[in-house]
Amino acid sequence: MTYEIAGKNPRLIISADEIAARVQGLGKELAAAYEGKNPVLVGVLKGSFIFLADLAREIRCEAEIDFVQVSSYGEGTSHGGLELLMRPSIPLSGRHVILVEDILDTRVTSSFLQDLLLSKSPASFALCALLDKRERREVEIEADYVGFTIETGFIVGYGTDYAEAGRNLPGIYVLD
Ligand code: IMP
Ligand code: MG
Repeated sequence: MTYEIAGKNPRLIISADEIAARVQGLGKELAAAYEGKNPVLVGVLKGSFIFLADLAREIRCEAEIDFVQVSSYGEGTSHGGLELLMRPSIPLSGRHVILVEDILDTRVTSSFLQDLLLSKSPASFALCALLDKRERREVEIEADYVGFTIETGFIVGYGTDYAEAGRNLPGIYVLD
């Protein structure tokens, strides 16, 4: 199943089966690292909603779920400034926090959210991203857990969007 987005045909780069296998691997890694720690997975809306839902079910240990949402004032993926639209509802002081992002691009969003979450005095902080895009990094932040690394391209699918289109595609696609 696919459909035209922004006048283009999305090109499949990672199939739903490949994603499932990788998410299962990440879940095992996280369960091994956080067993007995009852971590809080903090998903960044909206892009991480499918990744978080799948990942949470592959982490076979006690864990809690929360969300944050930010909006950038800029157009598209440019950042005129970031506004916090939803803050975490679970008190994070003393908790093991895992920030779950769809895509790391410039990393401005992750850096902003990392600062926000660290200000809550968690016991530990880790960043987990489905996709790590290498081409446009502006801030030196490395994810602790990465699903897939890609060099270039605009991605849609598996929760990620182009102007809200494409989030429900089950695979990961590039618009070119
Ligand atoms: P960053 O702050 O530049 O690292 O990117 C933050 C957000 O921009 C990500 O969480 C995504 O929601 C969005 N984004 C960046 N690159 C893409 C892309 O290729 N496709 C869809 N969304 C993207
Ligand atoms: Mg987005």
